[in-house]
Amino acid sequence: MARILIQGGHSLKGSVRVSGAKNAVLPILAASLLAEEGVSQIEEVPHLLDVKNMANTVEALGARLEWRGSTIRVDARHVNSFTPPADLVGRMRASFVVTGPLLARFGEAIVAHPGGCNIGPRPVDLHIKGLEALGATSVVENGFVHMKAPAGGLQGARIYLDIPSVGATQNIMMAATLARGQTVIENAAKEPENVDLANYLNAMGARVRGAGTDIIRIDGVDSLCGATHAVIPDRIEAGTFLVAAALKGEGVYVENALSHHLMSLIAKLEEAGARIEDRVDGIHVWPCEGGRMKPLDVKTHYYPSYPTDMQAQIIAALSVAQGTSTVTETVFENRFLHVAELQRMGANIHIEGRTAVIEGIERLSGARVTATDLRAGAALVIAGLIADGETEVHGLHHLDRGYDNLVAKFQALGARIERYEDVEVNV
Ligand code: UD1
Repeated sequence: MARILIQGGHSLKGSVRVSGAKNAVLPILAASLLAEEGVSQIEEVPHLLDVKNMANTVEALGARLEWRGSTIRVDARHVNSFTPPADLVGRMRASFVVTGPLLARFGEAIVAHPGGCNIGPRPVDLHIKGLEALGATSVVENGFVHMKAPAGGLQGARIYLDIPSVGATQNIMMAATLARGQTVIENAAKEPENVDLANYLNAMGARVRGAGTDIIRIDGVDSLCGATHAVIPDRIEAGTFLVAAALKGEGVYVENALSHHLMSLIAKLEEAGARIEDRVDGIHVWPCEGGRMKPLDVKTHYYPSYPTDMQAQIIAALSVAQGTSTVTETVFENRFLHVAELQRMGANIHIEGRTAVIEGIERLSGARVTATDLRAGAALVIAGLIADGETEVHGLHHLDRGYDNLVAKFQALGARIERYEDVEVNV
């Protein structure tokens, strides 16, 4: 089984470049299905399992894909299916965002219901309700969601989202690009990845206004055409390096990190005692005194508040803070599975409802731990970097979903970290 071995306690220094944002590339690849003419060129694509899955899904629907380094060319002119293979969609919840584009282009979509995942039940009711508001009908049968547009195609509508769901906003936004008339999404998700998606859609000929605010207006157009687009940097990957460098650094430059996407995290790191300098093409970070943060109270919420995808990493950091911290998770129901793993490394954390109470200790000690989800994996790597002795991280398929070359990037910063792809030999 593959594992990462980390010898903790080594200082990080130098510079690291952040890859393109996973959570932007996924809906952008789905949106590429909308182009009946021309070819899309998507640049700054990270090499990740999730991206590969989405690329395979788009390809399985009939698109032609060509990879060149971190660029993908997508020719979606010959897409001829509205039923992505269930085994591909089943691997990744985010695949459900192909529903909107397929419904808009073909008037029909049959997509496997994503179900729950490690961090909670994660329904798609808001996606379906939003698409129904555009006139579609839906039936959930045998594990599939079957959606159909009315005879004259989708019709623009005013949609209020009960929760500013990132995925539901994407699905509705993409479907509405080809609907008749205007669609208004109220209480829309404001995440930068949704702004990036809107920019790509507009480059394809769509008319999307207001992305990044909580009201998005989409005026439907007749057709869309392939476009060239460079994906924004991954703010969660950037944030992961910022947290690690705030603990174990001699000054680390996180190149390609955009500070205006990371305001809430930067504010917390500064409160914790790290020194952050915003530069033209990245962020420089110097560690907190003695490599230990001042205690913090952190609450996750929708963008621009503190991101739930940075919750596990900050808990790892606060486990060695100079006092007691609290971290409250408000977005997902069950996102504290990494706490049990951090406890194996000596962390003193207890959970009270949706809040983790973290009594900072002086140091963690290396242990054999398992990633339970993507960001939990990142938290365990950070914990390993600051712990005494050796940490062995398992469950790497989670990390591979969302971090492009994490081990090589930390090695370049001077960390003693190595990945082993063990092969079992029968004797
Ligand atoms: C996206 C991100 C994920 C991040 C999350 C929140 C991608 C690929 N993933 O996930 O990394 O952690 O945003 O920032 O971009 N909900 C419903 N009904 C729905 C949809 C969502 O109740 O139909 C709830 C969810 O259970 C959750 C909350 O809304 O509690 C937010 O979920 P959502 O914003 O939809 O997250 P995702 O798009 O799945």
